[in-house]
Parts: sequence; C-alpha cells; structure tokens
Amino acid sequence: MKKISVAIDGPAGAGKSSVAKTAASVLGYVYIDTGAMYRSVAVYAIENGIDIAGERQRLIKCLGDIDISLRNDGGRQTVYLNDVDVTERIRTADASMGASAVAVIPEVREKLVSEQKAMARDGGVIMDGRDIGTSVLPGAELKIYLTASVAERAKRRYNENIERGMECDYDEIERDVRKRDENDMTREVSPLRKADDAVLLDTSDMTFDEVVGAVTDMIREREADVL
Ligand code: DC
Repeated sequence: MKKISVAIDGPAGAGKSSVAKTAASVLGYVYIDTGAMYRSVAVYAIENGIDIAGERQRLIKCLGDIDISLRNDGGRQTVYLNDVDVTERIRTADASMGASAVAVIPEVREKLVSEQKAMARDGGVIMDGRDIGTSVLPGAELKIYLTASVAERAKRRYNENIERGMECDYDEIERDVRKRDENDMTREVSPLRKADDAVLLDTSDMTFDEVVGAVTDMIREREADVL
C-alpha cells in the first residue's frame, strides 16, 4: 500500500501530538512535530538573550544559525537545536510562550515551513501543527482538523499535570487555553483555521483510543483510495 501525507491541525491541547505519534507508530509513518520547531526557535532566542518581541530584527538575522533536527533515537522522539538535545527544554512554560511569539514572525515561518516541506517530500508522514493543511502540505492526501471544547482541553491538561506531580490551578489552565486559541486564531500570518477540505474530528466525547482508531481508519481508507 502506498503511504500518503497526512496533515493534522487544531488548537492547543486537542491531543494532536499524542494521536499523531501513536497513529504514526501503528502504521509505520514518520511523525513530524512542527510545534517543536517553533519551540526550538524560542529556546534559541531565550538562551541567547534575545527579546523576541522587542528585538525581532536581531532574531531574524540569527535564523541562518539555527539548525533544528527532529530525530528518532531508538523509538524516542528527540529534538536537537544546533546538536544539543532540547527535547525537555522546549516543553517549559517560557518556551511555550516564546513559541507563540516567534510564530507570528513571517521570516521564522518561512524558514520552518520550507524545512517542513522538505521533510515531507517523500510522503509517508503524519505532520501536526496549525497551518499544515493550509500552507505546509496543501496537497496532503488526508487533512484532519482535530479539536475539542475549551473545557475538555483544559481538563486534559490539568489531569496530565497532576499525573506528572505538578501543582496547578484549573482556572489558570483554562485561561491559558483560551489565550493560546486567541493568539493562534487571530494572528496575521497563517492563523489557525480548518482547511476547506479537512475532516473535522471533535474529540470532546471520545477516548484517546477511539481517536487513534478513527485517525488510523481514515489513513487506511485514503491509502486504499490513492492506490
Ligand atoms: O503545538 P505546540 O503547542 O507545540 O506549538 C507551539 C506554538 O507554535 C503554538 O503557539 C503555535 C505555534 N505553531 C505554529 O504557529 N504553527 C505550527 N505549524 C506549529 C506550531
């Protein structure tokens, strides 16, 4: 069966990356986490003392020095920034805020989108992000827009934090989810929106396994169609 290109977009906390990663491993696809790339640019700025909002030109001048690679180290997805493992570092709160700030810079998007297109050139990828179906892979054979209600996404994030032993406040998490939605959906460059030809999958009332099942079924069906 010919492998296809799959674009998964949607708001923060909809479960895109866990679903995409699991579906990729079940079907033997390469998983590409584009959010990790925006997060890596943010970490570069933070570590080099660049104020993202105030020193945009300085960051733009450095873009050529930023080398991001997504690797699979024995089944574990790792992220390297200039050959340093930043897999954990990019998940911190300052990296999340920074990623949202670098994502509005057109030059940053241009660099990352062109690298993402190159990574997907040979197909067989499941790529997740905000603009995959609309601008990175507009010709993807399957586009999925994965979403869930704000309350459900906040609840999932809250439970994840509690499981990891992190102290957290539900109301604060819900505010953060709303804020990130607003940032992602209202920014001028490549705002988050469902591509016209994307399948809408609202996971509010679905278990994780049900979502993975629905996504893998859709991929298998498309593979059969494009045979
Ligand atoms: O999916 P994530 O939370 O790791 O994404 C981090 C930030 O990067 C988020 O604010 C949205 C932005 N992003 C983007 O603008 N385009 C993408 N393709 C992926 C992420």
